[in-house]
Amino acid sequence: MNHEIHIYENAEEVSRSVAELIKNKAVTAATEGKHLNLAISGGNTPKMLFSLMAEEYSKLIPWKTLRIFWVDERCVEPTDAESNFGMTYDTLLRQPFIPAENVFRMKGEDIPENEAIRYQKLLWEELPVKNSFPVFDLILLGMGDDGHTASIFPDNLALLESENVVEVGVLPLTKQKRITLTGKTINNAEQVVFLITGANKAEIIKQIIHKEDIAGKYPAYYIHSVSGKLDFYLDKAASTQL
Ligand code: 6PG
Repeated sequence: MNHEIHIYENAEEVSRSVAELIKNKAVTAATEGKHLNLAISGGNTPKMLFSLMAEEYSKLIPWKTLRIFWVDERCVEPTDAESNFGMTYDTLLRQPFIPAENVFRMKGEDIPENEAIRYQKLLWEELPVKNSFPVFDLILLGMGDDGHTASIFPDNLALLESENVVEVGVLPLTKQKRITLTGKTINNAEQVVFLITGANKAEIIKQIIHKEDIAGKYPAYYIHSVSGKLDFYLDKAASTQL
């Protein structure tokens, strides 16, 4: 796994660095007359990034160029506190400068199996295809403290090899259903970025980066980018064991 590790003092500096990466890629895409197709994760870590983008990047990012998709979504109403879309709406998408036509949410409120099929069809229609899979320009991932990423959990590594683009995952603890991109879709992206902060993830990050045997049970361990661009954006707390 060829990867680059970027370490920053704190979560704010990590978030700012990822915002700059998104801005730079979007500006390049705009100058080339293209879109930037970005898939984002939910959870807590990206909240700071999205808030920063809302507060400081309204005029720095060509928002008509940036198209926003999701890596995964909890199967709940968009107004539910658990909703990844809901979190992203509250922190960023509510802003008037976000073109609604560039936001492609997973519909967590619909029947999971039907939504997985609908979203998969949407990705085939909206994205270019490479290696026989839809290809994102950039995918932003988090990692759970069990080594899951997207909604691919350690008890369902099969989602890493699925020939489908989108599947239904299940959170082991609560059996909550999730809509998730599959491993093959994620790994087909031009660039994959892990945004990970906090000391509680330092041990797993070390195990993955150092390719320790135990890492084999973590879905995050199997994430790479067939085009070769995989980046870890970490704060110091998450990188103490590297
Ligand atoms: C989700 C995310 C998930 C997340 C990790 C890390 O829907 O929860 O997509 O993959 O990235 O669980 O979550 P935190 O950022 O809250 O630690």
